[in-house]
Amino acid sequence: MKVLVTGGAGYIGSVTAARLIEAGHCVTVLDDLSTGHEDAVPAGARFVRGRVHDAAELLGAELSSFDGAVHLAAASLVAESVENPGKYQENNVVGSDRLIDALARAGVGRIVFSSTAAVYGEPERVPIDEDAPCRPVNPYGESKLAIDRLLDDIAVRSGLATVSLRYFNVAGAYAGLGERHRQESHLIPIALQAALGQREEMVIFGEDYPTPDGTCVRDYIHVADIAAAHLLALEHARAGAHLICNLGNGSGYSVREVLATVEQVTERALKVRVAGRRAGDPAVLVASATRARRELGWAPERPELSVMVADAWELVAAGGDR
Ligand code: UFG
Repeated sequence: MKVLVTGGAGYIGSVTAARLIEAGHCVTVLDDLSTGHEDAVPAGARFVRGRVHDAAELLGAELSSFDGAVHLAAASLVAESVENPGKYQENNVVGSDRLIDALARAGVGRIVFSSTAAVYGEPERVPIDEDAPCRPVNPYGESKLAIDRLLDDIAVRSGLATVSLRYFNVAGAYAGLGERHRQESHLIPIALQAALGQREEMVIFGEDYPTPDGTCVRDYIHVADIAAAHLLALEHARAGAHLICNLGNGSGYSVREVLATVEQVTERALKVRVAGRRAGDPAVLVASATRARRELGWAPERPELSVMVADAWELVAAGGDR
């Protein structure tokens, strides 16, 4: 297939592009490098620098030659979305709307969209399946939910084959590609920076949650397994339908368990301080990914947290997160 990957210079996008190329697909990456890195675009992919808003102008007549698009380009910082909701509306909702419209007009038949567990907000029960109520608690989650709804509509109106993949907590590295955020807020990369001595200490945000050790519980999933799901989604997408699938391993780890795994893998002790809760953090987020397994034939190959941490550590310890 000839596939357009938006956000293919970012963490999940670059790994997805790499796996598509490995599987023999022809990949063009569209990325404005606002958070991505040009050197993360995998060898063998064509790179076009620009915003998804301008895909029609940037790609011109070539747009109609794509068999499918994987749309990952987005602003994705929860805290930033609370401070600057307009940016999330403009980047994520308006940008996706324009891109999807351009793809539909050009006759690109398949769209796989990068959605998020953040659309569910504070869950009523775990594990969370796709029928759980969507009540996002921040503009980031709201922006992703708006696009999921847009895809519901466009699949019916235009007969496009669409899939939304709702990721839980993505971790790990693949083929030299890992998390390199200018503004790091995620637990595992921060803990690895602390292990490397790039940070004085680690802060645990809240130890008074209703969980076994009082810290938040998350469902971590390897970036290579996330990428694999995109390939399967492109293959299994059905014309006129919008399939929504959660992507997680179905098992939760607390912040303290993650930090213990980091200490074990890196063989370094972390200096840890406990602070108050971070606004908007649900106590427990664990996925039911039964639908992805059933509909896409997806089966995570790297479900162990220690493997995710070890893969990320291997890259950062080698200086790969420059
Ligand atoms: N945490 C700490 N200290 C840190 C960083 C994080 O204690 O320095 C805690 C958080 O409070 C949270 C857990 O570690 O309990 C995981 O936090 P992350 O920031 O790594 O991930 P989130 O669960 O907040 O975010 C993930 C995705 C988002 C998505 C969100 C949905 O990365 O894209 O789930 O809630 F929006």
